[in-house]
Amino acid sequence: MERNSSCSAGIPELAANMRIGVHNMEKKNIDWSNLGFAYLDTDKRYVSNYKNGAWDDGVMTEDATVTISECAGVLQYAQTCFEGMKAYTTEDGRTVVFRPDLNARRMEDTAKRLEMPVFPQERFIEAVVETVKANEAYVPPYGSGASLYIRPYMFGSSAVIGVKPAEEYQFRVFTTPVGPYFKGGVKPLTLCVSDYDRAAPRGTGHIKAGLNYAMSLYPIVTAHENGFDENMYLDAATRTKVEETGGANFLFVTKDNKVVTPKSDSILPSITRRSLVTVASEYLGMEVEEREVLFEEVADFAECGLCGTAAVISPVGKIVDHGKEICFPSGMSEMGPVTKKLYDTLTGIQLGRIEDKFGWLYEIK
Ligand code: PLP
Ligand code: COI
Repeated sequence: MERNSSCSAGIPELAANMRIGVHNMEKKNIDWSNLGFAYLDTDKRYVSNYKNGAWDDGVMTEDATVTISECAGVLQYAQTCFEGMKAYTTEDGRTVVFRPDLNARRMEDTAKRLEMPVFPQERFIEAVVETVKANEAYVPPYGSGASLYIRPYMFGSSAVIGVKPAEEYQFRVFTTPVGPYFKGGVKPLTLCVSDYDRAAPRGTGHIKAGLNYAMSLYPIVTAHENGFDENMYLDAATRTKVEETGGANFLFVTKDNKVVTPKSDSILPSITRRSLVTVASEYLGMEVEEREVLFEEVADFAECGLCGTAAVISPVGKIVDHGKEICFPSGMSEMGPVTKKLYDTLTGIQLGRIEDKFGWLYEIK
């Protein structure tokens, strides 16, 4: 079972104690139900700069542009990382953010691996809360199917020409209202087994580094050109084990109703996947296995889904391995029954329809 227990002491208390003024709840005039997953400029964003070994106090700004040196670490050597989470309007009208403490912790892990300064976890949560509050008019209304995507990110802003970490950094948070990540909403996806590798053993696959996404662009554009929705990446060392896609972890369901999810040191530890594991075991009483998954096992599963903040849990109907098709019994027209139960329970918690047993929702007050 996953709880908030392993994050820095005081973070849940900090968030629980946040009582931030009165807010303007008049929503923007946006066609919420027809939003795709695209950037829409909102009113305010958070910025903090790191200089001489310390982060400044941070401010909210209306300026959506960034001005940095032509030789900035991010521009020359891709020293950048990011996070992603969502805010929702619940059934009873609250604005909530889903598990930002885990994003704060993951960004700390990422920063350390990229020789970037850590933006303190407590401040990360405060910045997220402040940014959502400042853009509350963009949090899609309950029932619209949309949410407010929150994007914290950090980059090396000072000049480096020798290969070394920058000395100055900028941490920012912006928000943008979004609909489903995959066109067609919950229609089952078709994946192809990629000929490219997403992450090396002992590389950076387990952190949210921008470089992981830059190198995935060629494979995803190629997959789209070939008519596929996403890539299934295998482990780079043996190419026998299932890793993940470019932006989501896998979750499988066996024919006897067990949830199976790949374990690997080179996949991103998805907060959605970890939440779904708890949903499966603690809410639905299902057996869950987190283990290595051989590609040759995949044809035996009953259902397959992609899980992530953007993807939520998107059903996979078919995986194509160099012309050989694996078709899941759940089919190409709708989600399988277990995937649906997982989806309904997770989104039910996020939207306040189902009890938040583990304190996953951080309310913006
Ligand atoms: N895997 C990759 C490569 C991702 O980019 C993401 C998106 O954040 C995920 C998995 C899902 O992670 P999470 O559920 O924390 O959003
Ligand atoms: C997310 O789900 O938050 C992601 O970062 C996936 C993708 C948009 C990169």
